Formats: sequence, structure tokens, C-alpha cells
Amino acid sequence: MSQLKKTGLAAVALLLALGIAGCGSESKEVKLTAAQEKAMSERLAPAGEVVLEKDVPSAPVAAASGPRSGDEIYNSKCTACHSTGAAGAPKVGVAADWESRLAQGMDTLYANALNGVRGMPAKGLCMDCSADEIHAAVDYMVENSK
Ligand code: HEC
Repeated sequence: MSQLKKTGLAAVALLLALGIAGCGSESKEVKLTAAQEKAMSERLAPAGEVVLEKDVPSAPVAAASGPRSGDEIYNSKCTACHSTGAAGAPKVGVAADWESRLAQGMDTLYANALNGVRGMPAKGLCMDCSADEIHAAVDYMVENSK
């Protein structure tokens, strides 16, 4: 009885081994068709995949969806300093803060916003902002400080 059981187990083990080696095929080298290979690599592909934000069509992203508006840039990148007046930043909405700055001319304001001036860091620390976006943000700030 136990001999039979052992043989049975061995047979199962052998079948399993053959199954793993290639569905009972006798040769060790298993040749797959292109379709089988594709199916297999799909099965073996990792379950998770890294999807970059820029590849997701609905994600609101800068580069993929064209330039952001001055409103968007200001309210996400500049407001921290320019709504509070941190470090002496001219406050948006306070006309007096902007008078002497406007007197320099808009081109100087754009350039200073882009390159930085005194306590104003270059691009207001928005390193992924384009020059056009900074320009639009300055327009927005000036427009809302009259
Ligand atoms: C870390 C704080 C900070 C952030 C963030 C910041 N600013 Fe400023 N900004 C300042 C300070 C401080 C000044 C005043 C500098 C001075 O004249 O001493 C200033 C000045 C300016 C001026 C006037 C420059 C001039 O010539 O008088 C403009 C325009 C400006 N910022 C635009 C921006 C824009 C656009 C952003 C966002 C993209 C931004 N800032 C983000 C701190 C900041």
C-alpha cells in the first residue's frame, strides 16, 4: 500500500516537473511562437506599472497642456510671499506697494521677476515656470494691485 502511495507521489511529482518544463514536452528547450512569447511576457510582466503624471491625459500639468495662466502661477507659486508681504515682498492688492516698482517700467519688473532682485528669488522659486508664465504672473499681480 505505502509503496503504491510512493509511486503515486513520484508520478505526480514527475508530472508537475514536466508540466513546469514545458507542458510535458520531452525536449528541454521549449520553442515558443511569437504569439506565445508575447502572451508569456505579458503574463510575466510586473503587476504594477509606473505611470508618469505627464502621461495621464486628465492630469493638470504644465508642459503637456500649454502655458499656465498668470492667475494659476500667482496663486500656486507667488502668493506665499506676495499675499503676506514676506521678506518685504510687495503685496498684491496693495497699490502703494507697487507704485515705486511700476515706476521702473514693466520690462524691469518682468526681468526682476525672472532673474530675481534683492529678496525676490529668480522666477519666484518656480523653476518649472517659463518666461512667459512669469510674465503672465507679473501682469496678474500688477493688474490686481491697482
Ligand atoms: C520667497 C518669497 C517670494 C516668492 C515665492 C515670490 N516673490 Fe516676488 N518678491 C519677493 C520679495 C521679497 C520682493 C521684493 C524684493 C525687493 O525689492 O527687495 C519681490 C518682488 C517682486 C517683484 C517686483 C520686482 C521689482 O523690480 O520691484 C515682482 C514683479 C515679483 N516679485 C514677482 C514674483 C512672481 C511672478 C512670483 C511667482 C512666480 C514671485 N514674485 C514669487 C519675494 C518672493
